[in-house]
Amino acid sequence: MFSVKRLVESNSLKSIPSNYICHNENEDYDSMVNETENIPTIDFSKLISSNSNDRSMEIQKLGDACRDWGFFMLINHGVSETLRAEVLRLSQCFFDLPSEEKKECIGEKPFDPIRCGTSFNIKVDKTHYWRDFLKCYVHPHFHAPSNPLGFSETLEEYVTKNREVIGELLKAISLTLSLEENYIHNMMNAESGSQLLVINYYPPCPKPELVMGLPAHTDHGLLTLLMQNELGGLQIEHDGKWIPVNPLPNSFLINTGDHLEILTNGKYKSVVHRAIVMNKKAARISVGTANGPTLDTIVSPAPELLSEDNPSAYRGIQYKDYLLLQQSRELERKSCLDYIRI
Ligand code: OGA
Ligand code: NI
Repeated sequence: MFSVKRLVESNSLKSIPSNYICHNENEDYDSMVNETENIPTIDFSKLISSNSNDRSMEIQKLGDACRDWGFFMLINHGVSETLRAEVLRLSQCFFDLPSEEKKECIGEKPFDPIRCGTSFNIKVDKTHYWRDFLKCYVHPHFHAPSNPLGFSETLEEYVTKNREVIGELLKAISLTLSLEENYIHNMMNAESGSQLLVINYYPPCPKPELVMGLPAHTDHGLLTLLMQNELGGLQIEHDGKWIPVNPLPNSFLINTGDHLEILTNGKYKSVVHRAIVMNKKAARISVGTANGPTLDTIVSPAPELLSEDNPSAYRGIQYKDYLLLQQSRELERKSCLDYIRI
């Protein structure tokens, strides 16, 4: 099984193989702005507070964050630092395993329950990305590698906690749209919805400015919840600029996905983001969960949000078909949404 991690370890890499060199993506590398401090922060404890004043103020902030950024940091979410650290530690152990012990994870098809690999879609990527990954479907059925010891149990606890947080966020987001609290839950069959865990491993690179971890893209699903080890690299596109994200300690990074954009008829846009590689010495690990409806749900704009002035802008599409579309292509910004725009 090929991996960038092994490429880096196998020879003392002096030059970057030419198929990894990204020409276009890095043009604006130097023009990045530091606006991290402006990225919205949402306090989860206020969203679920019994103090209705606190709650409605935070819901208001959440609506603004979804509309203006499609991205926010979530604090006071109740997921323990110990659990988060353990997920990161065991993820490192997983990528350190010899190939023989990862054999159960060599799924090739988009709906294989466990897949590990490299780049994005190695069969069609023209440029290879400086990233290895593990992807597991963890809901409605839980799948995870059996190695290293304890990984599966830890991941199960972690993704369950993630779903609880996402469930509350979806309720609050329904309210920001002046819909009934359980609107998105009901329409998206969220209780039995699909959850995909993606663990990204970005090995150190001797010339990080020449490569790309993950190019600009949007995520499928309703909401993605991400955490990372101590190293940065995530950037979001905002007002035509790339903004590096330096997460607050213990926070989760949440971004709106393509299916929230469809559901809200474009009110909450799926945010374009990418992961650059910045480190010559250490590996960056990020752990994301993409949270969506059940695979057979047809997602289309919520009728309650449509009017003569705001007609449906997207065709309905089954979630499963959308995932297949995304997985069959190269990763490109906005690509799949363009297929279903009316
Ligand atoms: C992703 C993603 C960003 C990161 O996995 O879809 O955008 O920082 N990851 O690793
Ligand atoms: Ni992403």
